Order: sequence, then structure tokens, then C-alpha cells
Amino acid sequence: MARQHTQPTQQERLMRDDDFIVSKADLKGRITYSNQVFAEFSGFLESEFIGKQHNLVRHPDMPRCVFKLLWQHLESGQEIFAYIKNLCKDGSFYWVLANVTPSRDAQGKVVGYYSVRRKPNPKAIAVITPLYKQLLQIEKNAGAKDAIAASLAQMDNLLKDKGVSYERFILDLQAL
Ligand SMILES: Cc1cc2nc3c(=O)[nH]c(=O)nc-3n(C[C@H](O)[C@H](O)[C@H](O)COP(=O)(O)O)c2cc1C
Repeated sequence: MARQHTQPTQQERLMRDDDFIVSKADLKGRITYSNQVFAEFSGFLESEFIGKQHNLVRHPDMPRCVFKLLWQHLESGQEIFAYIKNLCKDGSFYWVLANVTPSRDAQGKVVGYYSVRRKPNPKAIAVITPLYKQLLQIEKNAGAKDAIAASLAQMDNLLKDKGVSYERFILDLQAL
């Protein structure tokens, strides 16, 4: 379960240009490792997040379809890039551009996942913020059962209109 008790605030924490927020997860998404910058930004102590799901930092402004895409990619053995707004322990938030990849053993079997997050381009966040707001609204209007299908359909339409793949869309925004 994601945390319900933290009241999100409008206080933003900005990543520095050379920051990388790194974490590793097992096949169920439970955190098995993180670097110090993860602890710094999330505001949690290592003892509070090791063994917990990554949704510990899930922000209520995030549309569910983004995580659906993330898990679809990972479960089909692909990496994904995604802009993610995360919730800190004190209710503030931080935006990241995450690159999440499956980790494989010597035989090529997926044994976990690895996320490296860097500072997103503020121009990208200016595009993503209203988009996620729209997707979240679509999910709310569609109701729990149809939420993800409805927002994914909207995302598909947007990408079709632009004539680009999801990955191209994300990486082009970072290059703005
Ligand atoms: C390696 C890895 C890193 C992740 N990083 C984040 C993250 O930084 N923030 C986040 O909200 N979800 C992250 N997730 C996705 C979560 O596992 C989860 O799907 C998401 O928070 C939605 O949670 P919910 O379905 O319980 O609402 C990550 C997953 C993996 C495998």
C-alpha cells in the first residue's frame, strides 16, 4: 500500500545537476538498495525503506497509467524512461527523470530492477505537469476499474498526434 497519511505540500526539492538518485528492487518492487541521495531526497532513513515497496514515495499527483507503463516495460524485459513526481516524508515533492531497467543474472534471467533518476529539464516538467493533471482527471472520471485504460488511451492519442513513440516523446522533452 502507498502511504496515505502524509499531507502533500507545494514545497519542491530540486535535484542538483550532478545528482543521481539510485535504487534497486527485487522482482516484487521492494527496495533492496539505495544510495545516499535517495535517502536525502525522500527524507526516509535507510531502515525505513529497505524491504518496502517503491510506492513509499508515490505522489498522489501521479497518474496510475505511468506506473502501468513502467511495469509493462519491465515485465517484458525492456527499460523505461519516465518523469515521476515523488513524495518526500515531510510532504514536499521532487521531480525526477527515471531510467528503470531490469537487472539480469549471468544466464540473462531477470533478478530485479534498477532505477537511476536524474534532474529533469524544467521545460519538460512544464509540459508533463498539465499532462499528468489531465491524465489523473481522466482516471478519476473513468472510475477505478476503467481508469488505466482511459488514461492510456489518451496517452496513445497524444503520441499518435505527435507521431512519436513514448520513449521519443520523453527523451525529446528532456532535450528541450
Ligand atoms: C526499480 C523501481 C523504481 C521505482 N521507483 C519509483 C519511484 O521513484 N516513485 C514511485 O512512485 N514509484 C516507483 N516505482 C513504481 C512502484 O513500484 C509502484 O508501481 C508505484 O509507486 C505505484 O504504486 P501503487 O500501484 O501502489 O499506487 C518503482 C518501481 C521499480 C521497480
